[in-house]
Amino acid sequence: MRFLFVPALLICAGISHAQTLKSLAQSRGIYVGAAASGVTNATYDTTLNREFNGIVCENAMKFGSIMTGENAFSYSGADAIVNFGVARGMYVRGHNFIWHKQMPGWFSGTTYVPSRDSTFRMMKKYINNVMAHYRGKINEWDIVNEAVARDSSGMRLGSGYSDASQNSKWAALTDAPNHNFDYIDSAFAYARRADSNVLLIYNDYDCEGMGKKSNYVYNIVAGLKNKGLVDGIGLQCHFYVGPSTSGSNGAWVPAEMVSNFQRLAALGLRISLTEVDMRIQTNPAPDSALLAKQREGYKTLMGICLAQPACKAFFTWGVNDSQSWIPGAFSGYGQALLFDNTSANGVYNRKAVYYGVQEALTATSIWGHKTNLKIIADDHQSHRFDLRGRLVTALPYNPIFVTKKTVNPK
Ligand code: G3I
Repeated sequence: MRFLFVPALLICAGISHAQTLKSLAQSRGIYVGAAASGVTNATYDTTLNREFNGIVCENAMKFGSIMTGENAFSYSGADAIVNFGVARGMYVRGHNFIWHKQMPGWFSGTTYVPSRDSTFRMMKKYINNVMAHYRGKINEWDIVNEAVARDSSGMRLGSGYSDASQNSKWAALTDAPNHNFDYIDSAFAYARRADSNVLLIYNDYDCEGMGKKSNYVYNIVAGLKNKGLVDGIGLQCHFYVGPSTSGSNGAWVPAEMVSNFQRLAALGLRISLTEVDMRIQTNPAPDSALLAKQREGYKTLMGICLAQPACKAFFTWGVNDSQSWIPGAFSGYGQALLFDNTSANGVYNRKAVYYGVQEALTATSIWGHKTNLKIIADDHQSHRFDLRGRLVTALPYNPIFVTKKTVNPK
């Protein structure tokens, strides 16, 4: 069926088969990248190299993979992927530093008993070591990942948020009873000092459109930007495409995304779409209407990115469907990426969604319309972090309680 469908699309769009996503992305001045689980499979590597001009480690660069002991670092897994990208002139993302998941056993186990000060020192040692190792190789780093709770009830670490992740030992960085989450400022400050030539990113999900979580995230990045600590925002874009619904938590509503991108860009931030995937129900097998909707979804998302000059990166969270985290995390769902699990001539076969992205890359802007934008002004206080790993003051800092002012759009 696909073989009948695809050539027709290509003829309509006037797209040459030789135009890979990489070549089209380069001509549009953006990076199309993928999360790599490794670089040891010829078909996988060839597809990555042919189609993408950006790369990020799916897991190999996380705390649990890299910091194998309180004073021990293991870089081989991440090095292989980073060096693959550097050798091919790719835009390399670093993912990630402070996250509540995938921590090393020595840190999450019972023998490590953190105090607030010792955990600040640990965070600084970790950031300094890893950033020094990758100096000159990474273009942008996710410094803090997913700091706002999934249900938008507040900040995640140390807040009593009803998810096992609150047990992360990074929670020791917070002074939650005093609403103090200044670890975010500090993580960025340490990173800025460790390598002033790399772009620093705050990365999160379910904050792509407008809504409560999106506002919290906006407050975080607005405060960081005021202090000169952040360069961009990473919007993960883990989306669901269903027969009737288009998303959850206000995240996947195209017109809202246009508005959100505008207010983020107005702060002077870069926008990176960092972990794009669009899962669909696979059991029962998707029908042609659902596949067409998914194709349209990918096309729309790329169109929104291209219409916003601040949006510079479109990274999918994996290369092909068999490598994706989705089936393991959402039983009965999958097929979320651009390539399937079959291959021909040494590369994975392109799916309908691939052609949706390709079509957007060759089209003129499709989501560039003006919106009735409301900007939420930010009134953060000034610096509170200590570059030597200690608190400067005990002033509370909780981005969720920042006063919001609505400014009428011009
Ligand atoms: O490496 C071990 C392996 O030794 C063991 O045999 C196997 C048994 O389950 O587990 C392997 O570790 C798994 C790891 O992926 C590597 O495959 C972990 O169990 C599994 O939990 C882990 O999942 C990753 C997940 O983050 C962890 O939360 C996914 O691959 C990865 O795609 C996902 O990525 C995150 C981003 O970093 C942040 N945003 C959300 C995104 C999706 O959850």
